[in-house]
Formats: sequence, structure tokens, C-alpha cells
Amino acid sequence: MKKITVSAPGKLMLFGEHAVVYGRPCLVTAVGQRMRAIVELTEDSMFQLDAPDVSVSGYRKPMSELGKGDPSTSLGTSIPKGAKFVEVAVKNFFSSQFTSKERASVGTGSTFEVGKAGIKVTTSSEFSSEFGFGSSSAATVCVIKALSELTGKKLSKKNVFDLSYKTVLEIQGQASGFDVAAATFGGTLYFVIGGKVIKQLNLPSLPLIVGYSGIKADTVTLVNQVKKKANKYPKVIDDIYDSIGYLVNQAKNALVKGDFQTVGELMNLNQGYLESLGVSSDKLESMIHAAREAGAYGAKLSGAGGGDCMIALAPNNKVEAVKKAINNVGGQVVDIKAHIEGVRIDG
Ligand code: MEV
Repeated sequence: MKKITVSAPGKLMLFGEHAVVYGRPCLVTAVGQRMRAIVELTEDSMFQLDAPDVSVSGYRKPMSELGKGDPSTSLGTSIPKGAKFVEVAVKNFFSSQFTSKERASVGTGSTFEVGKAGIKVTTSSEFSSEFGFGSSSAATVCVIKALSELTGKKLSKKNVFDLSYKTVLEIQGQASGFDVAAATFGGTLYFVIGGKVIKQLNLPSLPLIVGYSGIKADTVTLVNQVKKKANKYPKVIDDIYDSIGYLVNQAKNALVKGDFQTVGELMNLNQGYLESLGVSSDKLESMIHAAREAGAYGAKLSGAGGGDCMIALAPNNKVEAVKKAINNVGGQVVDIKAHIEGVRIDG
């Protein structure tokens, strides 16, 4: 096999953002639309990437240079932002699955000659990378999964998660990996940092309403902002993390029962704590309040905060009014399906 198409879903954090970075559990759901990667094995020892959604086209470098931003090569002075995750994923796949001797040897007669191998990746996304749906993590998972199939190194889902998480950590420095878990396993997950716990929840339904604030948030900046606050008020912030962890466990039970009234109340409580951590924004607040006033059971920001998306749950007969209310305050309602399938081979 020379070429494969793999897709993985995006994610939305339901409960527990920020506290999850400090060991408390969170709840995340996999959302469609999907990120898609066409990955091709070539024999020219080059890495090639086209990722039009993040403005990368015709990016090329030798496989031996993966992960290096050597200014002296004519092939690229540094790794463009949009190429980082895929490039480091390819590097990590090869360095974990093949010895350096295997990587250096050419023409050993095996069916897959790693020393000659080149990789051509083309990614495309059904959702905008602006939404904060985790497109970088989804692309990472797609590429690791595709390479495991193409090279005959079959990886379990947990192996795909571990390698993808390593890749994200290498680039971001600090991350819980919840988005990697959603892209890999799909569905709705109860998750603890690094994949210490990844538990699939059996949900009756999850009719989420999603509103995009129009502002792209930077996760690393927001995580650092919260860290600064925690350094100044360690006990206060630690207690907030504990309370968030506690409500995540209650939300898990309510979600499984389909008790949306309780889920909504817990969303509002979680939002209060996120506001206290300083990661909400005027725009998110106005969308959240508009949703509640229009009859939602509850609403909160989703993800790092500062921008990106908010989510709401509403009774069937209030869904249209809630969407309208979000639009009326300048939010953009994004149609998604929650609780969808994880990484899969599409062809
Ligand atoms: C960002 O979407 C969610 C955070 O909890 C960071 C993480 O879990 O890696 C803020």
C-alpha cells in the first residue's frame, strides 16, 4: 500500500478545562466535521506537505532534517507554524518505530525500505482552524495512524494516542492531551492528563449548541496566564481546581442519565469558576448570558477561553431561540455533531 486517507474528528471540551492540566478530570466530546489527511509513501527521502487550511503549500525538506529548523539549509529556515505538528509527528513516528540503523539503511530488500522512504501529506479540514476544535491535534493523530498502516507497524489506539500526545507536548510544552484523546478514540470521554484515564461514556444524546466568538484564542498564553494567578494565589486556585474536578464527576453522571437540567446547572457553575480563573471574555460572557436568557439549561465557554467557542444545552423547544440569541450578540452558530467516531481509515 502506497497511499491512504485517514480522518479524525475535532473536539469540544464539555467540562474541566484548565483544571485538567493540574490532574483533575475533564469531559470532552469528539465533534464532526472532520480533519482529513492523505498520506503517501514515496521513495525520494523527502517530506512534503500541503495544508491549504493553514496556508502551507509545497513545503519540502529531507526526511533526515525533520524537526530541525536549520537556517543554513536552502530548504527552509524554520518550520512554518502550520507544518509543525505534521512534521514532528512524522519524525516521532519514524524515530519510535525504526532503529537509527534501519533509518539509515537503503535497499535492504524488505518490503518497506525505511532508508529511502519519503512521505507526502495533504491535509484538509471540514472545519475552520479558527474555531479551536483541535485541528492540529486531529492532523497529528491522522498522520500517525496513516503511517502505522502504510509501514505495516500496526499501532493500537493507545499507541496512536501516546505518540500523538508526545508530539503535541514537544510543540506546546504543556498540554493535557484531551484533544488528542478525542481525535483518537472519538465519542465522549472522561479523561485525565496524559491518558492516565480515558473512559468512553455511553450517552443517550448530546444536542450541543456551539457559538464561535470570532476571536482566535491562544491556548499556551491562557494556560500561562492561569499559572501566574496560581503562583500568586496558590490555595485559592487549587481549591477552584478541586471544585471543577468535583463538578466534572457530577456532570459525568448527569450526562450518562441524560439529565440535561443538571448538566446545564453544572455548566453554569463551571463557567463561574472559569470566570474566576480570568479566562472568560466580554464577548463570551455576552453569548453565554444571551443563551441562558433565551432558555438554555446552561452555557459555558469551551476550551482555553479568551475567545474560540461557547457551548450551550437547551430543551428542544428553545434551541432555535438560543441560536438566535447567540447570533444577535454577534456570535456565529456553528453546526456540529457531537459524540462522533474517532480516527478511521477512509480509503
Ligand atoms: C484548552 O483547549 C484546554 C486546556 O485545559 C489546556 C489542555 O487541556 O491542554 C486549557
